[in-house]
Amino acid sequence: MKKIAFLASGRGSNFQAVIDRVNDGTINAEIVALITDKPDAYAIKRAGENNIPVFAIDFKSFGSRDDYNAELLRVMKEINADLYVLAGYMRLLDPDTAACFSGRMINIHPALLPSFKGLNAQKQAIEYGVRISGCTVHFVDEGMDSGAIILQHSVPVLDNDDEMALADRILKEEHAALPEAVKLFCEDKISISKRRVIIKE
Ligand code: GAR
Repeated sequence: MKKIAFLASGRGSNFQAVIDRVNDGTINAEIVALITDKPDAYAIKRAGENNIPVFAIDFKSFGSRDDYNAELLRVMKEINADLYVLAGYMRLLDPDTAACFSGRMINIHPALLPSFKGLNAQKQAIEYGVRISGCTVHFVDEGMDSGAIILQHSVPVLDNDDEMALADRILKEEHAALPEAVKLFCEDKISISKRRVIIKE
C-alpha cells in the first residue's frame, strides 16, 4: 500500500477530498503526514480528525529561506512517502527539494496550465477573459507550475462570474481531479515519457 504525505498551507479542502476517498476505500493508500508551513492552517484540524501526523514547519520561525528549505527537505525525507501531494501549499519549492522527489510529487493548480501560473490563477483567468478554465494536476519539477500534466478538468467561465464564483466552480472539479490522480498513482497507472504522462487503462 502506498504512503502519501500532503503539504498544505490553508483550508485543506483538497486534502479532505483525498482523505474521504481513502476512508471510503476508493483509494488504497495510507496518508502518513500533513506538512504545513502555517501553524494555524485549517488543514491541521482535518489531519487531527483523521489521526494523521502533523509536521508544522513555521516559515516565520526560521532565520532564512535556506534554513526553512533545509528543514522541510529533512522532514520530507524522514517521512519517506511514496507520493507527496501539494494541496494548496502556497510556497515555491526549492529546486533541490523538487529534484529530490521527482516523479513522486504532484500539485493541484486552479487553472488550465500552462495558462495562469502562480498565485491568483482564478483572478488571472477572469481578467484575461477566457471562456473556459479549470484545474490541473501535474508533477512538480524545478519550475513554477511547469511539470508534466497528469489530468485537467475544465469548467465554463460565465459572463457575470467574479473571481470567487469561478474559484468555487473550479474547486468542485479540484475535489474530483486530485483524488482521481492520486488513485491512478497509487495503482501504478501513471508513467512519464519526456514530459508526457501516459495513463494505463
Ligand atoms: C486550491 O484552489 C488550489 O488549487 C490552490 O489553492 C487552493 C487551496 O484550497 N493552489 C494554488 O493556487 C497553488 N498555486 P484548499 O486548501 O481548500 O485545498
